[in-house]
Amino acid sequence: MSEVTSIFVKQFKGENVYHFTLQNDRGITVRLTNYGATVTHILLPDQSGDVADVTLGYESVNEYFEGNPYYFGSIVGRCANRIARGEICIENKTYHLARNDGNANHLHGGHTNFSRVVWQAEAFVSSEGVGVKLSYFSPHLEEGYPGNLEAQVIYLLTEDNQLQIDYRATSDATTIFNPTSHIYFNLDNTADCQQHLLQINAAHYLPIDERSIPTGQILPVADTVMDFRQLKAIGENLQDLVPSLKNTRGYDHTWVLDKAPNELALVAQAVAPISGRRLKVWTTFPGVHFYAGNFFDKKLIGKNQNAYPIYAGFCLEAQYFPDAIHHPNFASPLLLAGQNFEAKTIFDFR
Ligand code: GLA
Repeated sequence: MSEVTSIFVKQFKGENVYHFTLQNDRGITVRLTNYGATVTHILLPDQSGDVADVTLGYESVNEYFEGNPYYFGSIVGRCANRIARGEICIENKTYHLARNDGNANHLHGGHTNFSRVVWQAEAFVSSEGVGVKLSYFSPHLEEGYPGNLEAQVIYLLTEDNQLQIDYRATSDATTIFNPTSHIYFNLDNTADCQQHLLQINAAHYLPIDERSIPTGQILPVADTVMDFRQLKAIGENLQDLVPSLKNTRGYDHTWVLDKAPNELALVAQAVAPISGRRLKVWTTFPGVHFYAGNFFDKKLIGKNQNAYPIYAGFCLEAQYFPDAIHHPNFASPLLLAGQNFEAKTIFDFR
């Protein structure tokens, strides 16, 4: 039988924080907390039944309260990735957001973004599996964004080994909404993910400027290091960083998914070389941002006192394109007043 249990951790700014454990019949365990809507552990058996945690993060929830600067496992938002100059104009009004990325651009929703707040939590059991429904009320002008926003993130662990994430939101004024899950995976639980094979179903990617803002072009991946249409080792082009990856110390780019807008499609997969564990990613979002811990601090220590060096794990962040608000040729991240936002991402484990 699948089950969901929880323990009370402590209060953070007067709100109760819990650590939930979701388990299914196939031996998968997902642990998550309502602080930052953060997935802290995913315990996955391999073919011989050996169970390993395949995510980066901290061992105890208390460590996340220190700010979780790399967004391990969390939901980021209101708007994932960058907004140039932290400036947005909505319905002829300019709003100033925090420039929390090198004092130049806005990143992942600002200082007190979704990964640093306590969400209201409700565990549930349904015919599909077990889960936790998380809700967060973000008041008008929180982190500078317009609109009183009611956001929901629903995590569901199914019997057929999927971790499904449903995003819902409504706002009383037109705003931007582009949340994503920032789970870092290492399916072999090794110090480095470069040997993992990765495939992204995208014939195009977004080139970026020196501050990682998309130029607005949508370029073909063919004959470039961005070509992941066939399974390829993450490290294949990282050994001697090619010029196009130098500024970002590796991949920190968005791929334009080959799919219809809002279609729930299989968009990426990763295969672990040692254990054979396989992750497939499905999403309704138009893009996947692939990042592999390129900026990890040399002294970064995570779970079980493990050091996390550069490329210790990879993120496949399904989302609208970075800085989409400034590019009319990108799918719009605007959530109109009174509209219902719905999006879905699935991590499917084999
Ligand atoms: C995203 C960004 C990176 C970095 C990570 C988190 O992937 O593009 O530059 O901020 O999040 O550290």
